[in-house]
Amino acid sequence: MAGVSPNKRDNFGSKFGVIAAAAGSAVGLGNIWKFPYELGNNGGGAFLVFYLIFVAMIGIPVMIAEFTIGRNGQKNPIGSFKFIKPGKPWFLVGVMGVGAAFMIFAFYGSVAGWTLEYLFQSFKGGFEGKNPDELNSMFTTFVEDPIRPIVWQVLFVILTTSVVIAGVKNGIEKYTKILMPVLVVIILILVVRSVTLPGAGEGLKFLFKPDFSKINATVILSALGQAFFSLSLGMGTIITYGSYINRNNNLGTTAIQVSIADTLIAILAGVAIFPAVFAFGINPSQGEGLIFVTIPTIFEQMPGGYFFSILFFILLAVAALTSTISLLEVIVSYFSEEYKISRKKAALISSSIILVLGILCTMSNGGVLKDFKIFGYNIWGLLEFTSADILLPLGGFFIVIFVGFFMGKKRVTDELTNNGTLKAKLLPVALFLIRFVAPVGIALVFLNVIGLLKF
Ligand code: PFF
Repeated sequence: MAGVSPNKRDNFGSKFGVIAAAAGSAVGLGNIWKFPYELGNNGGGAFLVFYLIFVAMIGIPVMIAEFTIGRNGQKNPIGSFKFIKPGKPWFLVGVMGVGAAFMIFAFYGSVAGWTLEYLFQSFKGGFEGKNPDELNSMFTTFVEDPIRPIVWQVLFVILTTSVVIAGVKNGIEKYTKILMPVLVVIILILVVRSVTLPGAGEGLKFLFKPDFSKINATVILSALGQAFFSLSLGMGTIITYGSYINRNNNLGTTAIQVSIADTLIAILAGVAIFPAVFAFGINPSQGEGLIFVTIPTIFEQMPGGYFFSILFFILLAVAALTSTISLLEVIVSYFSEEYKISRKKAALISSSIILVLGILCTMSNGGVLKDFKIFGYNIWGLLEFTSADILLPLGGFFIVIFVGFFMGKKRVTDELTNNGTLKAKLLPVALFLIRFVAPVGIALVFLNVIGLLKF
């Protein structure tokens, strides 16, 4: 086929497999840990409104654009740009993405490690009889421990590395397909318990009733960053997965399905958390510990809480795992394809680097490096802010500009209609969003943040 890289690659087996893997990347700690705490920090409902607008108007077009690049280029993010526009600097967008993958995995692996500690505590009955204050100090004591969080983090990175070494079909697809639906069921159970608590209404109000006086440039930027982070966009994860998608898959529909699933799960997590936060008098803007205090509190108030809590933290760890797999896959596909080294070697080298960076992150969160600050951020905060709020939207900006104006209309149209075999009625809408709405939207948010433009 003209204009398509001839590389033969490991493909996802079925249509559901693709959606499951991309959704597995998207659904993770971003939905269940980061979304509630960002929303809590950024004033509640008003954040949600911006978040939803950004998912629809920017996230979905960026996802379609990434799938298009990946399936057309048939390679890792850097290789795909090089294939489509050889000799041009576009591959640097991929380089930025690989850099972001290292940064995100560093702090993400730390939180993923916390889920293992909480799984362990669930087994031990460690939450039993504890009130929210006690659960709060349990969390703080744990994250400030110099050893424990690091041990779990190392374990988690090893787990991820082993799955990635096993390869796409045997590794990624198999796990995601079964476990994601189970996670949804258990969140639904949490929702039922949470919204039936006395005083739950306040939490629902906080989540769904926007208070627009809370809006400022930071809230808007955080909502944009969260949309990118939650959908795994802007750094080539979806380009990489796009390169594994079969030729007969409808990219537009897949992007919409994945985005809707991801958003629904984030909202469900919000509905599970905030009613309980208000019912128990927990501080909604307490930051990274929010769910680690709230969720055990809910389980404490529930028949079968012991059992559900074990199940929940297993599934949360799995959701995190399918996301870290996708992060590592970006890096490994790059090193193994461009430098012709084995997947195994690429995975081992890159996860060692991630571990070093990640342990520094963990130590800055309460341990030895707590007071070490750069631009007012500790190492963790710096990596989280730079990757999620800056690099991902910036990467997304270049990705839509590339697909919208540089990749060639025919090539994009062929990819999105599977060479004319799909009707793709919404194609003009998608192209309009990709070329104009998404890049202008991202640019406006950035201009607003640096103060060049005030809404
Ligand atoms: N989307 C993941 C989550 O919400 O947990 C995090 C993530 C995975 C971000 C992969 C970026 C990425 F490339």
